[in-house]
Amino acid sequence: MKILIAYATTEGQTRKICRFCADTLIGAGHSVELLQVQGDDRIDPALYDAVILAASVHINRFQKDMVRFATANAGALSRKPSLFLSVSLAVCGGEPEELAALDRIVAEFSGETGFHPGHVEQVAGAFRFTEYDFFKSLAMRYIASRRDQDVDPHSDTEYTDWDALRMTLTDWLATL
Ligand SMILES: Cc1cc2nc3c(=O)[nH]c(=O)nc-3n(C[C@H](O)[C@H](O)[C@H](O)COP(=O)(O)O)c2cc1C
Repeated sequence: MKILIAYATTEGQTRKICRFCADTLIGAGHSVELLQVQGDDRIDPALYDAVILAASVHINRFQKDMVRFATANAGALSRKPSLFLSVSLAVCGGEPEELAALDRIVAEFSGETGFHPGHVEQVAGAFRFTEYDFFKSLAMRYIASRRDQDVDPHSDTEYTDWDALRMTLTDWLATL
């Protein structure tokens, strides 16, 4: 199959996640186009057999570029088998309230863009202190301490479960 992976990222973890997805799908014999969306992309999702969209949560929203891309292509995207990867840190704790909030963020994204993914997966992201400026670093240290997450403020801490992500892809492929 020909699969489009379109993503938005702020600190880079979603790019890493999408490269992993691309490698996994290529390893399974599929052909993959990997695209970091900019909002004004001239790409036609109708040319692909299936699509994966991925974006990360920052202050309860996905990147504007992903909102623009999904809005501009909502019809074509919704007609394809699709998987939406929502990358965040809130998913790590597994708290029901935080999981419900993440579901609401995806629902708001769908409502705003008109894109209704066939399957949604909440994926754990990372603290990327090597990418943060001074103020972001302070804010993220505060968030980590509130969540009792033990992080080194001078390096990155990754929570992405690569085996679980591989399983998600395998299960999704099986539905196509
Ligand atoms: C400024 C900032 C705000 C964030 N806001 C949220 C949030 O509201 N909810 C959440 O679960 N994670 C939040 N995160 C965590 C990111 O979703 C997480 O670090 C993710 O891995 C970022 O992916 P990216 O590197 O692809 O941008 C935030 C991170 C930063 C730096």
